[in-house]
Amino acid sequence: MEVYNYNEYYLIKHLITSLKHYHYTTYLHSIRVAKLTYLVSKKLELPKDEQIYNCKGGLLHDIGKVLVPVTILDKAGSLTELEYEFVKIHPTYGSEMLKIFPSLKDLVPGVLYHHERLDGSGYPFGVSIIPLSAQIIGICDSFDAMTTRRPYNEKRLRNIQEAIFELKTQSQKYNYKIVEALEEVLWEKKEKQQRFISIYR
Ligand SMILES: [Fe+2]
Repeated sequence: MEVYNYNEYYLIKHLITSLKHYHYTTYLHSIRVAKLTYLVSKKLELPKDEQIYNCKGGLLHDIGKVLVPVTILDKAGSLTELEYEFVKIHPTYGSEMLKIFPSLKDLVPGVLYHHERLDGSGYPFGVSIIPLSAQIIGICDSFDAMTTRRPYNEKRLRNIQEAIFELKTQSQKYNYKIVEALEEVLWEKKEKQQRFISIYR
């Protein structure tokens, strides 16, 4: 079944609002990932339309989580095998949701492959050839998960330097060039914030 009578803006707004009402933490995470994905795509000097397209993919990368029970999303501590299977299926759920709408079909690779890793250790397929959009979204997603307080990472929360170090030392999983671009973006953001603080002190 394909739905043709909706424009892209309306659909993205509707989907992200559904996520906001279903699980606010994932919604906020998606906004941050979308912003970072856009800035990293820009830093990598990708064409303007790809920067925008990756940003939209970042915004909807976790939309499939609306089909994962909230009790699992909010669980503190480690997941059971069955619960983890539920989580692992969210990229597939998300891409199936987007495939219904022709105007969102281009976002499917970024959503479907954002948990795949270059060494084949990711999910849902365990492939090692990953679309660039999904690699960028995946790195921004991992960075945000490492640096933001979540129920399951109380003891493993990292600062910016620690998270970048961890990503860089796992170059078998994460594209080093993209991690470097993310690092540059983060330093620029920090410098801007410090400039702002020094002006208003
Ligand atoms: Fe995800």
